[in-house]
Amino acid sequence: MQLRHFNTSRGKMLKICCADIAVIFSNTVANGRQLLSFRADWLAPDEEYRSVIKVRVFNGPNLNLLGQREPGTYGQRSLMDIMQELERFAGDCGVQLDHMQTNSEGKMVDAIQQAGKDGVDYIIINPAGYTHTSVAIRDALLAVDIPFVEVHLSAVNSREPFRQINYFSDIAIGVISGFRGESYLLALQAILNRIEP
Ligand code: DQA
Repeated sequence: MQLRHFNTSRGKMLKICCADIAVIFSNTVANGRQLLSFRADWLAPDEEYRSVIKVRVFNGPNLNLLGQREPGTYGQRSLMDIMQELERFAGDCGVQLDHMQTNSEGKMVDAIQQAGKDGVDYIIINPAGYTHTSVAIRDALLAVDIPFVEVHLSAVNSREPFRQINYFSDIAIGVISGFRGESYLLALQAILNRIEP
Protein backbone atom coordinates (compact mmCIF):
# COMPACT_ATOMS: atom_id res chain seq x y z
CA MET A 1 0.00 0.00 0.00
CA GLN A 2 1.43 3.34 -1.02
CA LEU A 3 1.39 5.93 1.75
CA ARG A 4 2.03 9.63 1.49
CA HIS A 5 1.91 12.63 3.75
CA PHE A 6 -0.48 15.42 2.99
CA ASN A 7 -0.51 18.91 4.40
CA THR A 8 -3.88 20.29 5.29
CA SER A 9 -4.54 23.93 4.64
CA ARG A 10 -3.77 24.48 8.32
CA GLY A 11 -0.45 22.70 8.24
CA LYS A 12 -1.30 19.34 9.77
CA MET A 13 -0.58 15.91 8.40
CA LEU A 14 -2.59 12.93 7.24
CA LYS A 15 -1.24 9.63 5.96
CA ILE A 16 -3.41 8.00 3.33
CA CYS A 17 -3.19 5.59 0.45
CA CYS A 18 -3.21 7.68 -2.71
CA ALA A 19 -4.46 5.01 -5.08
CA ASP A 20 -7.44 4.15 -2.91
CA ILE A 21 -8.46 7.70 -2.16
CA ALA A 22 -8.52 8.38 -5.90
CA VAL A 23 -10.96 5.49 -6.32
CA ILE A 24 -13.07 6.77 -3.45
CA PHE A 25 -13.25 10.26 -4.86
CA SER A 26 -14.11 9.16 -8.37
CA ASN A 27 -16.84 6.88 -7.08
CA THR A 28 -18.28 9.49 -4.78
CA VAL A 29 -18.41 12.06 -7.54
CA ALA A 30 -20.50 9.60 -9.53
CA ASN A 31 -22.66 8.61 -6.58
CA GLY A 32 -22.26 10.17 -3.13
CA ARG A 33 -23.77 7.12 -1.44
CA GLN A 34 -21.13 4.76 -2.74
CA LEU A 35 -18.55 6.16 -0.41
CA LEU A 36 -20.34 4.39 2.43
CA SER A 37 -19.40 1.04 1.02
CA PHE A 38 -15.71 1.76 1.41
CA ARG A 39 -14.02 0.54 4.53
CA ALA A 40 -11.05 1.88 6.39
CA ASP A 41 -8.67 -0.66 4.88
CA TRP A 42 -7.32 2.03 2.58
CA LEU A 43 -5.94 3.81 5.60
CA ALA A 44 -2.49 3.17 6.92
CA PRO A 45 -2.08 0.63 9.72
CA ASP A 46 -2.84 2.08 13.15
CA GLU A 47 0.74 2.45 14.24
CA GLU A 48 1.59 4.52 11.15
CA TYR A 49 -1.64 6.43 10.89
CA ARG A 50 -2.24 9.72 12.59
CA SER A 51 -5.08 11.88 11.44
CA VAL A 52 -5.53 15.21 13.08
CA ILE A 53 -8.00 16.90 10.77
CA LYS A 54 -10.83 18.22 12.91
CA VAL A 55 -14.15 19.01 11.26
CA ARG A 56 -17.10 20.42 13.17
CA VAL A 57 -20.63 20.49 11.79
CA PHE A 58 -23.13 23.17 12.79
CA ASN A 59 -26.82 22.76 12.14
CA GLY A 60 -29.18 25.65 12.60
CA PRO A 61 -32.80 26.09 13.60
CA ASN A 62 -35.52 23.55 12.85
CA LEU A 63 -33.07 21.02 11.47
CA ASN A 64 -33.80 18.97 14.61
CA LEU A 65 -37.18 18.37 12.95
CA LEU A 66 -35.79 16.80 9.79
CA GLY A 67 -37.80 13.78 8.79
CA GLN A 68 -41.08 15.34 9.93
CA ARG A 69 -40.50 18.84 8.61
CA GLU A 70 -41.58 19.44 5.00
CA PRO A 71 -40.25 16.04 3.83
CA GLY A 72 -40.93 16.94 0.19
CA THR A 73 -38.37 19.73 0.51
CA TYR A 74 -35.89 18.41 3.05
CA GLY A 75 -36.23 14.64 2.74
CA GLN A 76 -37.47 11.88 5.01
CA ARG A 77 -34.33 11.30 7.02
CA SER A 78 -33.79 12.55 10.55
CA LEU A 79 -30.83 14.74 11.44
CA MET A 80 -29.48 11.94 13.64
CA ASP A 81 -29.55 9.53 10.71
CA ILE A 82 -27.78 12.02 8.44
CA MET A 83 -25.14 12.84 11.06
CA GLN A 84 -24.50 9.16 11.80
CA GLU A 85 -23.86 8.52 8.14
CA LEU A 86 -21.51 11.51 8.03
CA GLU A 87 -19.67 10.30 11.12
CA ARG A 88 -19.16 6.90 9.53
CA PHE A 89 -17.69 8.47 6.41
CA ALA A 90 -15.47 10.73 8.51
CA GLY A 91 -14.30 7.75 10.54
CA ASP A 92 -13.45 5.81 7.40
CA CYS A 93 -11.43 8.79 6.18
CA GLY A 94 -9.64 9.27 9.49
CA VAL A 95 -11.25 12.65 10.08
CA GLN A 96 -12.19 13.69 13.60
CA LEU A 97 -15.73 14.99 13.23
CA ASP A 98 -18.31 16.25 15.68
CA HIS A 99 -21.56 18.09 15.26
CA MET A 100 -24.08 20.26 17.05
CA GLN A 101 -27.54 21.60 16.37
CA THR A 102 -29.15 24.63 17.90
CA ASN A 103 -32.27 26.68 17.36
CA SER A 104 -30.60 29.71 18.90
CA GLU A 105 -28.51 32.28 17.07
CA GLY A 106 -26.52 33.17 20.20
CA LYS A 107 -25.69 29.53 20.90
CA MET A 108 -24.49 29.14 17.33
CA VAL A 109 -22.21 32.18 17.74
CA ASP A 110 -20.85 30.80 21.04
CA ALA A 111 -20.24 27.39 19.47
CA ILE A 112 -18.39 28.89 16.51
CA GLN A 113 -16.21 30.91 18.87
CA GLN A 114 -15.49 27.69 20.78
CA ALA A 115 -14.46 26.00 17.53
CA GLY A 116 -11.78 28.69 17.19
CA LYS A 117 -10.43 27.77 20.64
CA ASP A 118 -10.63 24.02 19.95
CA GLY A 119 -8.36 24.12 16.91
CA VAL A 120 -11.04 23.01 14.47
CA ASP A 121 -9.61 22.83 10.93
CA TYR A 122 -12.81 23.02 8.90
CA ILE A 123 -16.44 23.81 9.53
CA ILE A 124 -19.45 22.44 7.70
CA ILE A 125 -22.44 24.64 8.44
CA ASN A 126 -26.10 24.60 7.55
CA PRO A 127 -27.25 27.89 9.04
CA ALA A 128 -30.85 27.00 8.04
CA GLY A 129 -33.12 30.03 8.44
CA TYR A 130 -30.18 32.11 9.69
CA THR A 131 -28.64 31.78 6.24
CA HIS A 132 -30.88 34.60 5.15
CA THR A 133 -30.68 36.82 8.23
CA SER A 134 -27.65 36.42 10.45
CA VAL A 135 -24.88 39.00 10.41
CA ALA A 136 -23.87 37.72 13.87
CA ILE A 137 -23.16 34.15 12.69
CA ARG A 138 -21.36 35.46 9.63
CA ASP A 139 -19.20 37.68 11.83
CA ALA A 140 -18.40 34.75 14.14
CA LEU A 141 -17.17 32.70 11.17
CA LEU A 142 -15.04 35.60 10.00
CA ALA A 143 -13.71 36.11 13.52
CA VAL A 144 -12.51 32.52 13.98
CA ASP A 145 -11.21 32.42 10.41
CA ILE A 146 -11.87 28.69 10.00
CA PRO A 147 -12.55 27.67 6.39
CA PHE A 148 -16.11 26.47 6.01
CA VAL A 149 -18.45 24.79 3.56
CA GLU A 150 -22.04 26.00 3.53
CA VAL A 151 -24.55 23.20 3.16
CA HIS A 152 -28.26 23.07 2.40
CA LEU A 153 -30.53 20.08 1.99
CA SER A 154 -32.82 21.88 -0.42
CA ALA A 155 -31.88 23.67 -3.63
CA VAL A 156 -32.07 27.10 -2.02
CA ASN A 157 -31.32 28.98 -5.24
CA SER A 158 -34.49 27.75 -6.87
CA ARG A 159 -36.74 28.60 -3.93
CA GLU A 160 -38.48 31.77 -2.71
CA PRO A 161 -36.95 35.20 -3.37
CA PHE A 162 -36.26 35.82 0.35
CA ARG A 163 -34.01 32.74 0.36
CA GLN A 164 -31.82 34.37 -2.27
CA ILE A 165 -30.50 36.69 0.44
CA ASN A 166 -27.47 34.89 1.82
CA TYR A 167 -25.00 36.05 4.45
CA PHE A 168 -22.55 33.15 4.02
CA SER A 169 -21.88 32.12 0.43
CA ASP A 170 -19.43 34.90 -0.37
CA ILE A 171 -17.14 33.94 2.52
CA ALA A 172 -17.51 30.14 2.24
CA ILE A 173 -15.00 27.83 0.54
CA GLY A 174 -18.04 26.69 -1.40
CA VAL A 175 -21.71 25.87 -1.17
CA ILE A 176 -23.40 22.48 -1.55
CA SER A 177 -27.13 22.70 -1.90
CA GLY A 178 -29.97 20.47 -3.00
CA PHE A 179 -28.72 16.94 -2.31
CA ARG A 180 -30.77 16.43 0.83
CA GLY A 181 -28.74 14.61 3.49
CA GLU A 182 -26.01 13.79 1.01
CA SER A 183 -25.07 17.48 0.86
CA TYR A 184 -23.13 16.91 4.10
CA LEU A 185 -21.19 13.96 2.65
CA LEU A 186 -20.31 16.00 -0.40
CA ALA A 187 -19.15 18.85 1.83
CA LEU A 188 -16.79 16.54 3.69
CA GLN A 189 -15.55 15.14 0.41
CA ALA A 190 -14.88 18.68 -0.81
CA ILE A 191 -12.84 19.34 2.31
CA LEU A 192 -10.82 16.15 1.76
CA ASN A 193 -10.22 17.23 -1.83
CA ARG A 194 -8.66 20.43 -0.53
CA ILE A 195 -5.98 18.58 1.40
CA GLU A 196 -2.84 19.36 -0.52
CA PRO A 197 -0.04 16.92 -1.23
C1 DQA B 1 -32.08 25.09 4.56
C2 DQA B 1 -32.67 26.14 3.62
C3 DQA B 1 -33.12 27.35 4.40
O1 DQA B 1 -33.66 28.32 3.52
C4 DQA B 1 -34.18 26.96 5.39
O2 DQA B 1 -34.56 28.08 6.17
C5 DQA B 1 -33.77 25.84 6.25
C6 DQA B 1 -33.04 24.72 5.68
C7 DQA B 1 -31.75 23.79 3.82
O3 DQA B 1 -30.97 23.02 4.37
O4 DQA B 1 -32.24 23.55 2.73
O5 DQA B 1 -34.15 25.77 7.42
O6 DQA B 1 -30.90 25.60 5.09
